[in-house]
Amino acid sequence: MILVLLGPPGSGKGTQAKTLVANHKWPQLSTGDMLRHAISEGTKLGLEAKSFMDKGSLVPDEVVIGLIAARTMLEDCKKGFILDGFPRTIPQAEALDKMLQKQGRLVNRAVLFEIPDAELVRRLSGRRTCLSCGSMFHVDSMKSKKDGICDKCGSPLVQRDDDKAEVIQKRLAVYQLQTAPLAQYYQTAGKLKKIDATQSPEKVSESLEKALS
Ligand code: AP5
Repeated sequence: MILVLLGPPGSGKGTQAKTLVANHKWPQLSTGDMLRHAISEGTKLGLEAKSFMDKGSLVPDEVVIGLIAARTMLEDCKKGFILDGFPRTIPQAEALDKMLQKQGRLVNRAVLFEIPDAELVRRLSGRRTCLSCGSMFHVDSMKSKKDGICDKCGSPLVQRDDDKAEVIQKRLAVYQLQTAPLAQYYQTAGKLKKIDATQSPEKVSESLEKALS
């Protein structure tokens, strides 16, 4: 299974990808996580990416395409993988198709997480992330047991720089302009399924499994 999770920032792609990893053992390929890792390591790529991410803009296509091309060649991707946050532009989707074609593979399914903007703003502004293990919480709806501490590994929880109010608005606008057209791209290819992402995480997970069957 090569699965593309499509949807605006905060729609729950990362949350659901982690459930899919646990249930199916497919690796999660998140370009956002890869870029944040590069930033935390202080690499040249990380420094370049940070200037785009802090503003809520997309990192240049060639940078993320290079990251994904290298990652999909690793052994754990042989039986499939989940793409979370990639592709995000039509050129990225076309590059992905070409890359997979060379490997004798293709995208099997793209699932679009549908959700209104008001709920996205609520989710993103209240999100807290563990920098150590990547677990996610929400200050109202998915609270950690101890305030500010990750339930899984005990590390401090932080607010992502791009989850500040002014950057959230920019990310939503960028999504509409550059990423939303991908729904039509995968619809035309006969690969698109849509799910209601406003439901509880458990119900979204059920809908996602149905969309994959
Ligand atoms: P990235 O890290 O990919 O961020 P994103 O797409 O904006 O998505 P998010 O991680 O914000 O949201 P999500 O849909 O995963 O939701 P989550 O599960 O966390 O990208 C960040 C930046 O990197 C981009 O802006 C760009 O600069 C750059 N970048 C990355 N990929 C790129 C690419 N391909 N090309 C160019 N640039 C790229 O959930 C959100 C919150 O809601 C959490 O608090 C969670 O607990 C809560 N929640 C989740 N599900 C539910 C539910 N069902 N009910 C209630 N609350 C829920």
